[in-house]
Amino acid sequence: MAGQLAFVVLLFAVGYVALTENAYTPASPAQLFKRYFSEPQQPRCRTFPGDADWPTAEEWSEFNKTLGGKLIATVPIASACHVDQFTPYSQSECAAVQNVWGYPETHYQTSSSVMSAWYANQSCDPFTSKDAQCVVGTYVQYAVNATSALDYQNTIAFTKAHNIRLVIRNTGHDYNGKSTGAGAVAIWTHHLKDMEIIDYNSQFYTGKAIKVGAGVQGFEADEIAHDNDVMVVTGNCPTVGIAGGYTQGGGHGQLVSAFGLAADQVLEWEVVTGTGELVTASQSNNSDLYWALAGGGGGTYGVVLSMTSKVYPERQTASANLTFLNTGVTQETFYGVVETFVTTLPSILDAGGVSIWMLLNTTFLMTPTTIPGGTKQQLQSLLDPVIKELEANNMTYIYNIDEFSTYYDAYQTMNPPSNVTEYQLGGRLIPRSIVESNSSALVAAMQNVNNQGAVISGVSVNATQKPGYPINAVNPVWRTAAIDLVFGTPWSYSDWDTNVANRRIMTDELLPPFEAMTPGGGAYLNEADPNQPDFQYTFYNENYAVLRTIKDKYDPDHIFYAATGVGSEYWTEMEDHRLCRTF
Ligand SMILES: Cc1cc2nc3c(=O)[nH]c(=O)nc-3n(C[C@H](O)[C@H](O)[C@H](O)COP(=O)(O)OP(=O)(O)OC[C@H]3O[C@@H](n4cnc5c(N)ncnc54)[C@H](O)[C@@H]3O)c2cc1C
Ligand SMILES: *[C@@H]1O[C@H](CO)[C@@H](O)[C@H](O)[C@H]1NC(C)=O
Ligand SMILES: *[C@@H]1O[C@H](CO)[C@@H](O)[C@H](O)[C@H]1NC(C)=O
Ligand SMILES: *[C@@H]1O[C@H](CO)[C@@H](O)[C@H](O)[C@H]1NC(C)=O
Ligand SMILES: *[C@@H]1O[C@H](CO)[C@@H](O)[C@H](O)[C@H]1NC(C)=O
Ligand SMILES: *[C@@H]1O[C@H](CO)[C@@H](O)[C@H](O)[C@H]1NC(C)=O
Ligand SMILES: *[C@@H]1O[C@H](CO)[C@@H](O)[C@H](O)[C@H]1NC(C)=O
Ligand SMILES: *[C@@H]1O[C@H](CO)[C@@H](O)[C@H](O)[C@H]1NC(C)=O
Ligand SMILES: *[C@@H]1O[C@H](CO)[C@@H](O)[C@H](O)[C@H]1NC(C)=O
Ligand SMILES: *[C@@H]1O[C@H](CO)[C@@H](O)[C@H](O)[C@H]1NC(C)=O
Ligand SMILES: *[C@@H]1O[C@H](CO)[C@@H](O)[C@H](O)[C@H]1NC(C)=O
Repeated sequence: MAGQLAFVVLLFAVGYVALTENAYTPASPAQLFKRYFSEPQQPRCRTFPGDADWPTAEEWSEFNKTLGGKLIATVPIASACHVDQFTPYSQSECAAVQNVWGYPETHYQTSSSVMSAWYANQSCDPFTSKDAQCVVGTYVQYAVNATSALDYQNTIAFTKAHNIRLVIRNTGHDYNGKSTGAGAVAIWTHHLKDMEIIDYNSQFYTGKAIKVGAGVQGFEADEIAHDNDVMVVTGNCPTVGIAGGYTQGGGHGQLVSAFGLAADQVLEWEVVTGTGELVTASQSNNSDLYWALAGGGGGTYGVVLSMTSKVYPERQTASANLTFLNTGVTQETFYGVVETFVTTLPSILDAGGVSIWMLLNTTFLMTPTTIPGGTKQQLQSLLDPVIKELEANNMTYIYNIDEFSTYYDAYQTMNPPSNVTEYQLGGRLIPRSIVESNSSALVAAMQNVNNQGAVISGVSVNATQKPGYPINAVNPVWRTAAIDLVFGTPWSYSDWDTNVANRRIMTDELLPPFEAMTPGGGAYLNEADPNQPDFQYTFYNENYAVLRTIKDKYDPDHIFYAATGVGSEYWTEMEDHRLCRTF
C-alpha cells in the first residue's frame, strides 16, 4: 500500500512538472488526479472532442493567437456531398469533388484529407449516400498551417499541455494512416516550401546539395534541380513530399540503382524534437537522430523542418515502357514472358537501371525502365529477350524506347501520371538471390496473387549501400533486395465489408507464401501491410531496438505517434480510434 502510494505521488509529481513546463495553464492537481487515477482500470487516453478536458473555444482561440492565426478547424472536403453541419448539400459541388477525388492534389492541398480511404473511415466520403455521415471523424480536428520552428514548438507545447494527439502531416500520401488521427491536431508542413541548391562543405562531403523545407514535393525539387543542371533522388509519384515520410522511410525512385536510396543522400536535418528543441542532426551533431531519421520511419522522432541532401550532375538517360496482354495466349505463355522479364532484372540493376512495373493476370506494364547515364542501345539489348519472346508468341504489345539528353526529360516523358492508390497494400522485399535462382517459384507465387484478384506492383532497384556513404537506419533487407514487391487489393467505394475482408486476405493469404520464401526478410515500411505481424522486425529489422532508444531520447514524453512507427506500441487505437497508452 505504501509502495502504491509512493508510486502515485511520484507519477503525480512527474505529471505536474511536465505540464507546468509550458506556457499554458496547467491542469490543477485535482484535475490531474482525476485524469490519471479516477478510473484505474481504464487505459490513460488522449483527450477526445467532447471530453470534459477538451480545450474550450477560448483556449483554442488563445492557441490560434499564439500561432498568428494559423489554426485551421477541419471542414471535410466532401462536405457538399452530405447533409451535415459544415456546408449545404450541393449535387453539383459534390459531383465536382467526386470527379477529382482520384487526383493527389485534391488531398495534398488540404490540411486534413488523406489518400488512403481506409484511414478516412468514411468519415465524410464523397461516394456514400447524401444521408450518410459527414463528420471530422478520423480526420484531424485541427491543423496548424506551419511556417516556422516556432509553429512546431507552440503546437507541441499546446498538445502536450492538453494531452491531445499530435500528428505530423505533409501530403497525406501515407498508406498506413500515419498522417491522420482521430481527435488530433496536425502540424501541417505543406507550406514550408523554401528550397535552394547549395555548395555543401563538411568533413564528410563537399559538393552540390539541395536544402528543402518540409513541405517541398518531388516535382518541385526536380524542377529546381533541373534549373541547376543537377538531379535529386525523388519518387515515382512526383507529388510525394521529400523530407517527410518518403526519405525518412527509405525512399525509392529511378535514380536509386545509380546513387542509393533517398535516405542515403541526406547530409543533415533540422528537427524540432519532442521536447520542443530545434536541433541539427548530421553525421557530426546528434548523429543518433541523423541515423534514425534516414530510413527509420517518419512521424516519430521529431518534426523535420528542413533536409539537406546530395545532388548529382545531370546525365543523358535511356528509358523504355512496355505493355503486353494475355490476348490469344495461354496463361502459361503470358507468365512465361513475365518470368523472362524478371530474369533480366539483375542485369538492368547492374547497368544502374531501375524498373517499375505492374502485373495483373491479363496485363503487364513496365512504366518505365530507366538507365540514368545509359544509352538506348544498351537498354534495348537488356530488354531484348522479353521483346523476342513476345514476337515469337505473336503477342500484342506496345513498346517505346528512347534516349533523352537529361534525366529530367526522361522522367517527364516516360513517367505516367500518378493517381491516388485505390488499393489496400501489402509488400515484401524480394532478395536478388531469389530473382537469380528461383524466378519460376517467384512468378508462380505472383500468378497466384493475381488470380486472387490482387494487382502487383514491382519496383526493381539496386539499393546496396554505396561505398563511402553514411550508415543509416534503412531496413538492411533493402540492401540485398532486387524487387520491392507490392500487392494491392482493389478498394471498394460501395462495400466496406469487402475492404475489411481484403485486409485479412492480405495478411493471412497473400503475404505468407512470400514470407515463407524469404525467411528473415522484410518489407518496405512505406508500402506494406498495416497489419503486418511483427512489423517491428519486418519493417526495421535488427535496427528496431536502437531506434526505439533514440525515439525515447528525443521524444521522452511520447508526443509523436504514427501507426507502425517506431514506438507505436506505446499506444493503442481503441475501437472509436481514440489513442490510449499501453505503458
Ligand atoms: C501514389 C503514391 C506513390 C508513391 N510512390 C513512391 C515512390 O516512388 N517511392 C517511395 O519510396 N515511396 C512512394 N510512395 C510512398 C511514400 O513514400 C509514403 O506514402 C510516404 O509516407 C509519403 O510521405 P509524405 O511525407 O509525402 O506523406 P504524409 O502522408 O504527409 O506523411 C507520411 C509520414 O511521414 C511523416 N512526416 C511527414 N512530414 C514529416 C516531417 N516534416 N517530419 C517528420 N515526419 C514527417 C508523417 O507523420 C507520416 O508518418 C508512394 C505513395 C503513393 C500514395
Ligand atoms: C484562427 O485565426 C484566423 C485569423 O484570425 C482565423 O481566420 C481562423 O479562422 C482562426 N482559426 C480557428 C480555428 O478559429
Ligand atoms: C485518376 O483520377 C481521376 C480523378 O478522379 C479520374 O478521372 C481518372 O479516371 C483516374 N485515372 C486512372 C488511370 O485511374
Ligand atoms: C470509424 O467508423 C466506425 C464504423 O462506422 C465507427 O464505429 C467509428 O466511430 C469511426 N471512427 C471515428 C473516429 O469516427
Ligand atoms: C497556409 O499558409 C499559407 C502561407 O504560408 C497560405 O498561403 C495558405 O493560404 C494557408 N492555407 C490555409 C488553408 O489557411
Ligand atoms: C553542430 O552544431 C554546432 C552548434 O550547434 C554548430 O555550430 C555546427 O555548425 C553544427 N555542425 C554541423 C555539421 O551541423
Ligand atoms: C505466329 O504467327 C506466325 C505467322 O502468322 C505463325 O507462322 C507462327 O506459327 C505463330 N507463332 C505462334 C507461337 O503462334
Ligand atoms: C510510353 O511512353 C510514351 C512516350 O515514349 C508515352 O507516350 C506513352 O503514354 C507511355 N505509355 C505508358 C503506358 O505509360
Ligand atoms: C484472373 O484473376 C481473376 C481475379 O481477378 C480471376 O477471377 C480469374 O479467374 C483469373 N484468370 C485466370 C485465367 O486465371
Ligand atoms: C548492386 O550493385 C553492387 C555493385 O555493382 C553489387 O555488388 C550488388 O550485388 C548489387 N546488388 C543487387 C541487389 O543488385
Ligand atoms: C524455390 O522456391 C520454392 C518456394 O519457396 C522452394 O520450395 C524451392 O525449394 C526453391 N528452390 C530453390 C532452388 O531455391
